[in-house]
Amino acid sequence: MGKSRTYTCAQRPCKRRKRPVYLKFSHDSLRIFGRAYNPLFRKPRLAGFVQKREGGGGEEEEKEGEEKEEEIEHLNKTHSQRQQNSNLSSMNFFPSKAKPKSYLEKLQSRLSGGRFRMLNEKLYTSSGDEAFKFFKEDPSAFDCYHEGYQEQMSRWPSQPLDVIINWLNKHSKHLTVADFGCGSGKLAKSVKNQVFSLDLVATDETIIACNMAHTPLNSHSIDIAVFCLSLMGTDYPSFLAEAHRVLKNGGTLLIAEVRSRFDPKNGGADPTQFIKALGGLGFSCVNKDFSNKFFVVFEFSKHRVLKNSKKCEWPALKVCIYKRR
Ligand SMILES: C[S@@+](CC[C@H](N)C(=O)[O-])C[C@H]1O[C@@H](n2cnc3c(N)ncnc32)[C@H](O)[C@@H]1O
Repeated sequence: MGKSRTYTCAQRPCKRRKRPVYLKFSHDSLRIFGRAYNPLFRKPRLAGFVQKREGGGGEEEEKEGEEKEEEIEHLNKTHSQRQQNSNLSSMNFFPSKAKPKSYLEKLQSRLSGGRFRMLNEKLYTSSGDEAFKFFKEDPSAFDCYHEGYQEQMSRWPSQPLDVIINWLNKHSKHLTVADFGCGSGKLAKSVKNQVFSLDLVATDETIIACNMAHTPLNSHSIDIAVFCLSLMGTDYPSFLAEAHRVLKNGGTLLIAEVRSRFDPKNGGADPTQFIKALGGLGFSCVNKDFSNKFFVVFEFSKHRVLKNSKKCEWPALKVCIYKRR
């Protein structure tokens, strides 16, 4: 048993007595708060409830044993109930993340968060060629971008990439896939299909580093082209034209994008105009899913050879800015 000390109940007097109740218990019994607690360093969670009192306990304290036990039991129940409730609400909204502990860690986290947002904006406001050149000169920026991106995505209740993976799992594993803007190449690792993973930087040997407006893939060689949150460049129509080139006739184009980019009421593109522009490129819309609050998914089928693509009126897709946390 630990050292015995006396603590006084400052804000919650016993129901039958007006004076505060004096509690006597060891350090071990402070686990009544659901975790080891050192009263010398922090105030207890239940604000101001327990205060340290110098010296040992008196006779009066000994007599009040039963009341103390009741009190402790009551506290135990209340506290564990509170903990349960708070765990539930944090599970519902944000997965519990260990918070940075030191000031330095907080500062580092802010700096990398700031760099992530700068890189994110750069990707949305550059052409594919500019972005390719930028990351070629500084591949470490790509790691920083993806760290920040993963952090942001961990806050989303469901992942658009999982929708794509589910879609592929429901179709033949013999279909060949091209993942345009694959990031870390998770899609290729999650399905049985042959997947050509394309991105500005190859973080491993399975990824082809290129600007996806000009891929090394053969024409009419792919069954499914995937764009998962990757229509980022200012020249995004050229990425879709490239997908059209590499897809076989009758092939499928899957696009998952941030929902706000297709919300005309808030400066986003009109989905109808987007579908029409893709129609001009040679795709017909088979399905569109706006059921998720965070992202939308379009499914298109390649129906004919590309003609007069320059005549398509492409809506501008707004920059997607992640909020500072
Ligand atoms: C938001 S991340 C999504 C990554 C991945 N698709 C996922 O869902 O996890 C977008 C990716 O598209 C890539 N990207 C953007 N423009 C590109 C381009 N012109 N050529 C190749 N990749 C590009 C970025 O480098 C980034 O890795």
